[in-house]
Amino acid sequence: MDGDGATLANLLREERRFPPPSGLAAAANAGADAFAAADADGEAFWAAAAARLEWAEPWTQVLDWSRAPFARWFTGGRLNVAANCLDRHVRDGLGDRVAFHWEGEPGDTRTLTYADLKDEVCRAANALLSLGVRAGDRVALYMPMIPETVVAMLACARIGAPHTVVFGGFSADALRGRVLDCDARVVITADGGYRKGAASALKPAVDEALEACPDVRSVLVVRRTGQDVAWTEGRDVWWHDLVAAQPAEHEPEAFDSEHPLYIMYTSGTTARPKGILHTSGGYLTQVAWSHWAVFDVKPEQDVYWTAADIGWVTGHSYIVYGPLANGVTSVLYEGTPDTPHQGRWWEIVQKYGVTILYCAPTAIRTFMKWGEEIPARFDLSSLRLLGSVGEPINPEAWIWYRQAIGSDRCPVVDTWWQTETGAHMISPLPSVATLKPGSALRPLPGIHADVVDDTGKPVPNGSGGYLVLTRPWPSMLRTIWGDEQRYIDTYWSRFPGWYFAGDGAKKDEDGDIWLLGRVDDVMNVSGHRISTTEVESALVSHPRVAEAAVVGAADATTGQGIVAFVILRGGAGGDGSTGDALATELRAHVAKEIGPIARPRQILVVAELPKTRSGKIMRRLLRDVAENRELGDVTTLTDSSVMDAIRDGLPAAA
Ligand code: WTA
Repeated sequence: MDGDGATLANLLREERRFPPPSGLAAAANAGADAFAAADADGEAFWAAAAARLEWAEPWTQVLDWSRAPFARWFTGGRLNVAANCLDRHVRDGLGDRVAFHWEGEPGDTRTLTYADLKDEVCRAANALLSLGVRAGDRVALYMPMIPETVVAMLACARIGAPHTVVFGGFSADALRGRVLDCDARVVITADGGYRKGAASALKPAVDEALEACPDVRSVLVVRRTGQDVAWTEGRDVWWHDLVAAQPAEHEPEAFDSEHPLYIMYTSGTTARPKGILHTSGGYLTQVAWSHWAVFDVKPEQDVYWTAADIGWVTGHSYIVYGPLANGVTSVLYEGTPDTPHQGRWWEIVQKYGVTILYCAPTAIRTFMKWGEEIPARFDLSSLRLLGSVGEPINPEAWIWYRQAIGSDRCPVVDTWWQTETGAHMISPLPSVATLKPGSALRPLPGIHADVVDDTGKPVPNGSGGYLVLTRPWPSMLRTIWGDEQRYIDTYWSRFPGWYFAGDGAKKDEDGDIWLLGRVDDVMNVSGHRISTTEVESALVSHPRVAEAAVVGAADATTGQGIVAFVILRGGAGGDGSTGDALATELRAHVAKEIGPIARPRQILVVAELPKTRSGKIMRRLLRDVAENRELGDVTTLTDSSVMDAIRDGLPAAA
């Protein structure tokens, strides 16, 4: 956590406090009683949360931790996740309630009620069955933000086929890697989607990826943009041909509580993404409970909007599974926030009367940059609660969010969690928490976290260290797909018995938690996790690059920006080819290898990289350079003149 000292001191000087609004506290879904119940008996607390769902068979044991760190929750219980999200609401007379107000980027809209969604999901489930998909088979999705994406996920869940949704901004290579890693046999995609005012193709990347995936037998293609697509006869099928022809009846089968629900790939500290496995009963229990408690949703009144992509865990838990399990009406928006104008989000809030908005600090900081007069042009009075996720939110962005968007009346809940945790872990409960701008405050009821030093000893209040989770929780990852050892090594070995989150944190004088960002080689760019080694290996796959070192440097808008230091093959010689043209080419190369989100902000050509005597690149020093700071301790360098050379060779104020 080098270089965080100043940030930390600033954070802890933050003294503004916001007690809960009295109206909210009086009618809250969860408050002090939830903490009391969880403290009295954690397993009974989670059992009560699980009882909010519909089970076909009751569980015999809440938690089986006998094979730790491999957990089993609600063992023996059986349920169907999709039926919990749809059928039971329709049966309870809520079929006419809107599940999604969908807004396409060009302005086209669709409204899907719970009954509509159930019918569509049943048709899609029948379609998948007709393609030979069976319980346990993996299905990969590479989709834009359209209703069919939700339908496809729930159809997979309904027939017990774990889905793996690959973010539509990832490259063909990234898609191929994921399809191969989980051995998916069917891919669902679209011709394209709308982004930034234009049709952006998806199908060509699928075609390219599948050239090296011989086991994929079917590709189901949604027509969204109408753009031309290449067609592989015998493999490709139009969604509107196959799904529309299916009956809307499908009897949901109840699966074991530990039946795999989905695999979500995320960056770790090596170049190979990890397939995070989530299962059914525990996941849905905690996702539904946290969505209900943290956002205090009132399904009869609220219009809820998670402005994130379904291709990330936030979309899985808080666009799809949480809101639907709770029978809530949501907004789903396809496009970018500045298309066709910078007030698009606020226009959507006004149009649908959004009451709860959940988004990332990067978006908030971007809106700050655009100016508060833009949201001020819209009627945002329907909003009553705001949420933040994905990266540390700096106090100024928090305050701006509360004031410019929430009229200084809406509580802001800063929710800390991860792909691996599946659901919110550290977050205020808005009914009882006195909010501190920039702090996620305390673990939620039933969650146990601490901040420890290098030796695993809990730090006293007022000190910083590593964030750990000290007890299992229902929506925890069950393993890394196909790699149990990596699961143990990555999460459970640094502090034996405890889950190591990879984040630094500080406890303030009250014992409240302030998240400080990753302590490993994972960067957080606009709330997206990208590993330094992943970008480095993309760079060295370019013929001109001999060696590369990548760091995340503080960035006022995106949280971190990717800065790459590269050594060229044949040296950096002054032949003119090391200038802007090459940097542009290398940035494009990384975008092609991984996806545009991984494109470095800056590429700096250097003659040497700072290394320790054991050959480890000292990223800490490179981060000092990238952030224009005084260099930290250089005594462990093999050759301390390397850093002078790097500094001397850089453009001024890089
Ligand atoms: C970071 C996204 C500070 C953190 C849900 C974590 C946060 C990583 C917060 C997980 C927050 C997420 N405050 N940092 N409220 N929420 N993070 O897997 O570094 O995409 O480890 O899950 O994002 O990112 P992931």
